[in-house]
Amino acid sequence: MAGIIVIGAQWGDEGKGKVTDWLANEMDFVVRYQGGHNAGHTVVHDGKELRLHLLPSGVLYSNITSVIGNGLVVDPKALLDELSDLERAGVGRPKLVLSSNAHLIMPYHKMIDEATEVRLGKAKIGTTGRGIGPAYADKAARIGLRVQDLLDMKIFREKLATALDRKRADFDFYEIEEPGLDEIADEYAAYADKINGMIGDTEHLLNWALKEGKNVLFEGAQGTMLDLDHGTYPFVTSSSPTAGGACVGTGVSPLRIDRIIGIAKAYTTRVGYGPFPTEDTGESGETLQCVGAEFGTTTGRTRRCGWLDGVVLKYAVEINGMTEIALTKLDVLSPFSTVRICVGYEFGGEVFDHMPPHQTIFHKCTPVYEELSGWQVDLGGITKYSGLPEATRRYVERIEEIAGVPINLISVGPSRTQTIIK
Ligand code: IMP
Repeated sequence: MAGIIVIGAQWGDEGKGKVTDWLANEMDFVVRYQGGHNAGHTVVHDGKELRLHLLPSGVLYSNITSVIGNGLVVDPKALLDELSDLERAGVGRPKLVLSSNAHLIMPYHKMIDEATEVRLGKAKIGTTGRGIGPAYADKAARIGLRVQDLLDMKIFREKLATALDRKRADFDFYEIEEPGLDEIADEYAAYADKINGMIGDTEHLLNWALKEGKNVLFEGAQGTMLDLDHGTYPFVTSSSPTAGGACVGTGVSPLRIDRIIGIAKAYTTRVGYGPFPTEDTGESGETLQCVGAEFGTTTGRTRRCGWLDGVVLKYAVEINGMTEIALTKLDVLSPFSTVRICVGYEFGGEVFDHMPPHQTIFHKCTPVYEELSGWQVDLGGITKYSGLPEATRRYVERIEEIAGVPINLISVGPSRTQTIIK
């Protein structure tokens, strides 16, 4: 039995796609457990760069069964478009099973997502505008439509009528024209024709697979600090990207998980609004942004950049019970003569070396940095840990000390070959 969870240790975009792709070789199943097509995984396959939003990274391998778990919110159009993109890229049709219990993103979710952001004005979250939050809100309000409703369009129409009725107040509040029931039902009936063959009992399938000793990779999207409970609320996504979410979002017991791998970028980035203590809006941040090509895969937005936050990393290790870390984009730090790691937050004369008890402190603190020598050597061609400059190894080992878990994999470039196993 091998159940492995891969999660983001920061605010998403840590390079989970590359690490998942690296591990996928040995996997029988790759499973998404939360979120939707707000995610953006860039993987390089056969020299071609592919962008996945909703599909698990396993779709690139013909021997892997890819699973979209019950914890996701699925936009059927986005799903079908992504499958078509794969075919166009020559990857072909993946083996894909879609949980009957996953929820559907409806056209009005996207409308409400966009209208909410406009209404929030300066206080907006900076969502991806894909309807993720409103779809999860309807799930919790028990007026969501699920993937299994596509199997019976009579039931689908009944549930849709109830949902539209309950959402009328929202449509009025946001001044959105009420969407037509027939129009939506016809659109989703056309999706159902193409999707119904993929729907299955993924809970049973995954439990069977783990019992049979198959290798199952649970692929987190976004990151720990965007978790609805453990992140920088309300500047978070509406699901649980943390390790616990993998169990809830698939129906697999925590006892089935053997390894929890946290993916951390060698520095920090964030898209959207919300607190980010180590954000650097000066020259260093600009260098990280340019050298690291920090533009969002899903929305194309420029990512905010700053130094590695050791306090956030320690918190992520704890919340997720990480057994190890994969450190990505270490090569991006090469231009710097000195590099910094945040080891505490100073606020009101006190230094916090753990996540502060109140978010205002996190918002307003001054990061306390440790400065280490840079290496100013191109790392892109180095394939062994011992081949890294001494200053680079010192940086890696200091992160291990702060996190309290080993770094087992280091990425020094986008391609599969630019990976060092430590
Ligand atoms: P939503 O998930 O579209 O509701 O967006 C909520 C917050 O999560 C916003 O700050 C987004 O920028 C952020 N977010 C959502 N998906 C990702 C991702 O894949 N990477 C990084 N940030 C994300």
